[in-house]
Amino acid sequence: MRRALVVGNWKMNLDHVEAVHLTQQLAVILASRPAEHVDVVVAPPFVDLRSVTSVIEAEHSVLEVAAQHVNPRPAGAHTGEIAVPMLTRLRVRWVIVGHSERRTHYGMDDQVVAETARAAVAGGLRAIVCVGEDEDVRARGEHRGFVEAQVLAALSGLSAPEGDVVVAYEPIWAIGTGRTASVADVAEMTEVIRAAVAATGVRGVRVLYGGSVTADNAAELFAADVDGFLVGGASLRAESFAAIVAAGESCYAGGR
Ligand code: 13P
Repeated sequence: MRRALVVGNWKMNLDHVEAVHLTQQLAVILASRPAEHVDVVVAPPFVDLRSVTSVIEAEHSVLEVAAQHVNPRPAGAHTGEIAVPMLTRLRVRWVIVGHSERRTHYGMDDQVVAETARAAVAGGLRAIVCVGEDEDVRARGEHRGFVEAQVLAALSGLSAPEGDVVVAYEPIWAIGTGRTASVADVAEMTEVIRAAVAATGVRGVRVLYGGSVTADNAAELFAADVDGFLVGGASLRAESFAAIVAAGESCYAGGR
């Protein structure tokens, strides 16, 4: 049976003290309202990872941890960067690869995204590869081809165990804007993404949506044949994030 996946991307928010607090709150909520059909992952800033994994272990929580980025090289002279083995040693299981904020502001092109996904998976991490068009691409009606090309570039030549690769469709115009994509938009693009993924031969890939997902629209968006969400702003408060997880649980508990 398919399981949903809900990932909270904290971006550059919450220092390690705040991160401990939010993780404790989430652990308590998930213990009292178990989400048996949803994998729940949080992606804190690098400096919080150690504290967050410690809280999760102390609480015996089902929460899992992602990094927001990783450098594809194993070690060396890369000031300011973090390598895959540093993350796995901290018991980080996941990594976000090629978020649009990294593509746009930190020069991460398709080739670096592909290299990073390959290094992450080879090193034992599960990669959440982000794709999505900006407003101009959509206005020109080129979003289907644009996103298809991003998926093919990121996943081609990738050999990954089933379940180790996730693709998140995050249209840039919907990120942090309150302009959530419609169910029809998301359904159209998940179909494009699933077809592109199939062409790469990578199996067991879950497809997420991200962009102004909230507790209020999560249930409706699950109708768009997504396997879950990559949540930004609404993941910074325990109650709103837990409500999105609960929407996944009610959708999947019925045997989606
Ligand atoms: P928001 O949910 O704040 O729109 O952010 C989405 C996102 O970029 C998650 O990675």
